[in-house]
Amino acid sequence: MQLIGQVAVVTGGGNNIGKAVSWRMAREGAYVIVADINFSAAEKVATDITEAGLKAIPYRVDVSIKHEVRDMMRTIEGDLGQIDILANIAGILGPTAPTSEISEEDWDLILDVNLKGTFLCCQAVIDGMISRGYGRIVNMSSITGKEGNPMLAAYVSSKAGVMGFTKSLGKETAKSGVTVNCIAPTMIEGDMIKTVSESYFQSVLNKIPMGRLGKPEEVAGLFNYLVSEEAGYITGQCLDMSGGRAVY
Ligand SMILES: NC(=O)c1ccc[n+]([C@@H]2O[C@H](COP(=O)([O-])OP(=O)(O)OC[C@H]3O[C@@H](n4cnc5c(N)ncnc54)[C@H](O)[C@@H]3O)[C@@H](O)[C@H]2O)c1
Repeated sequence: MQLIGQVAVVTGGGNNIGKAVSWRMAREGAYVIVADINFSAAEKVATDITEAGLKAIPYRVDVSIKHEVRDMMRTIEGDLGQIDILANIAGILGPTAPTSEISEEDWDLILDVNLKGTFLCCQAVIDGMISRGYGRIVNMSSITGKEGNPMLAAYVSSKAGVMGFTKSLGKETAKSGVTVNCIAPTMIEGDMIKTVSESYFQSVLNKIPMGRLGKPEEVAGLFNYLVSEEAGYITGQCLDMSGGRAVY
């Protein structure tokens, strides 16, 4: 119960990794705001957490829209006093297609949700965290952002952007008591992988020395460490979760 009394915003909290992170932080004692564009999914997660005797509320937000993000963060700060933890997990994969076929609309949407959404959420909480001298931000990157991936140029670019943004904000806030890190997993079990072709899936699996996908609960475990007080000397980092795949 290392997060008792803390307020945690989990974007993308309505499904899979975000859901596992919401549950884990609630079990550690945090008051969790399950924030998702899919309100019914967020509501289900928050209701299940509450029925287990823990603290959570759902919130509908599109992380790519500045005024929605700002309104949400101001409402939470007004109602609960402060935001101690931000987990930026909301993300979309987009279509798998060669670069010559990526539409400008798809490119913009993927970058808007994955990269701009992360920026907007961080920007909306960072001053409050700095003024209180404490905060934990964990963003969601991907191993593809380090290695590159054919047929996924927009997604990969957005995740490489999340890494660069995280390193920059981590350095910017290094003396403030706020830490900013990101996690770069390889494929994790869940709905996102169901959208890729069988041959692509096999090619990814073949690259993982452990020979299996990661589990959302394993990702939640690393989130949980990074948002703890114990992790106070780690900032501006990208931590890999790749079953042995990452080599740098
Ligand atoms: N699943 C994987 O293999 C994998 C690997 C590496 C990184 N990631 C990253 O982890 C994150 C979560 O992955 P997942 O497998 O749980 O995905 P998921 O699709 O199961 O869940 C993503 C959640 O984000 C929400 N969302 C989408 N767009 C949003 C928006 N504009 N505003 C608010 N919420 C929005 C969705 O409604 C959904 O609940 C993503 O950022 C993804 O890129 C996933």
